[in-house]
Amino acid sequence: MSDFNNDALKSALAATSKAVERVIEPILAMPTGPEARVVEAMRYSFFAGGKRLRPFLVLASAALFDVNREQALRVAAAIECVHCYSLIHDDLPAMDDDDFRRGKPTAHKAFDEATAILAGDALLTLAFDILSDEATHADPNVRLSLVRKLARASGHHGMVGGQMIDLSAADRTLEEAEIYRLQQMKTGALISFSVEAGAVLGHAAPNVLSSLQGYARDLGLAFQIADDLLDVEGDPDVVGKATQKDADAGKATLVGIMGIERARKQASILADQAIEHLSEFDDKASLLRAVAHFAIFRRT
Ligand code: IPE
Ligand code: IPE
Ligand code: MG
Ligand code: MG
Ligand code: MG
Repeated sequence: MSDFNNDALKSALAATSKAVERVIEPILAMPTGPEARVVEAMRYSFFAGGKRLRPFLVLASAALFDVNREQALRVAAAIECVHCYSLIHDDLPAMDDDDFRRGKPTAHKAFDEATAILAGDALLTLAFDILSDEATHADPNVRLSLVRKLARASGHHGMVGGQMIDLSAADRTLEEAEIYRLQQMKTGALISFSVEAGAVLGHAAPNVLSSLQGYARDLGLAFQIADDLLDVEGDPDVVGKATQKDADAGKATLVGIMGIERARKQASILADQAIEHLSEFDDKASLLRAVAHFAIFRRT
């Protein structure tokens, strides 16, 4: 399948990146006082690049329901703030202890640990500030639903809970089902939020929302398997972060228990399954289909 080279997807990802940066620029304006240092660190991490997959998913799912693009962009910016925070904290010495991220020194290397922790905290908090603003949606119920869903996806039921399992798995072997659960929480939850957010903004019917939830679940799992494969097979200069670290750190991954070939096959099955959930959306979902292939064939 040549969707990995899908030009429409490439330009949509590039456009997403540009648009989200435009939205966040005034929101992350530099203050004049000594607190400016934390904003500098927030900007350093946010503007370091990255695929902008989660913002893309918000925009692509919102487009299924003809949601106002500026409103969708605010939600896209909010989820990228949470994602950037999760990366800053994930890279800290107390967690994965990484020196490079998105091809640049990690936040605690470029600044210091305390500033990195605070920048992460502030990016997380900022996401809820953005979602709760009237500019995100005129209907307070929609805003509340987004806030609630992002809180659930980010906290101990979601990303933070998954990170806790990831760290605590270093000294024990997890079964396949436990690894799926860990990955669903640490990575899948934010991806699911991104896809669902478009449906929430668009007041999607429950059956339509449930198709998108199925898509997002399979996509999130495929995406993390691909990340774990990149740790084994990726070129650090292309991936933008250190590779060959997970096995030594005792990380619980499907690659670790299944081997490369079976894990790659599993990622491919999950990507195909994700696409099957989109059957009711015809051509409107073509970018969401393409990104499922991108998720597993990517080199970065
Ligand atoms: C990395 O996420 C962390 C995981 C959840 C696997 P991405 O691979 O989306 O990182 P960026 O945003 O492109 O840098
Ligand atoms: C991190 O998973 C998932 C997050 C919630 C940030 P990894 O630890 O495998 O992500 P990378 O490989 O450092 O990007
Ligand atoms: Mg980690
Ligand atoms: Mg890590
Ligand atoms: Mg990884």
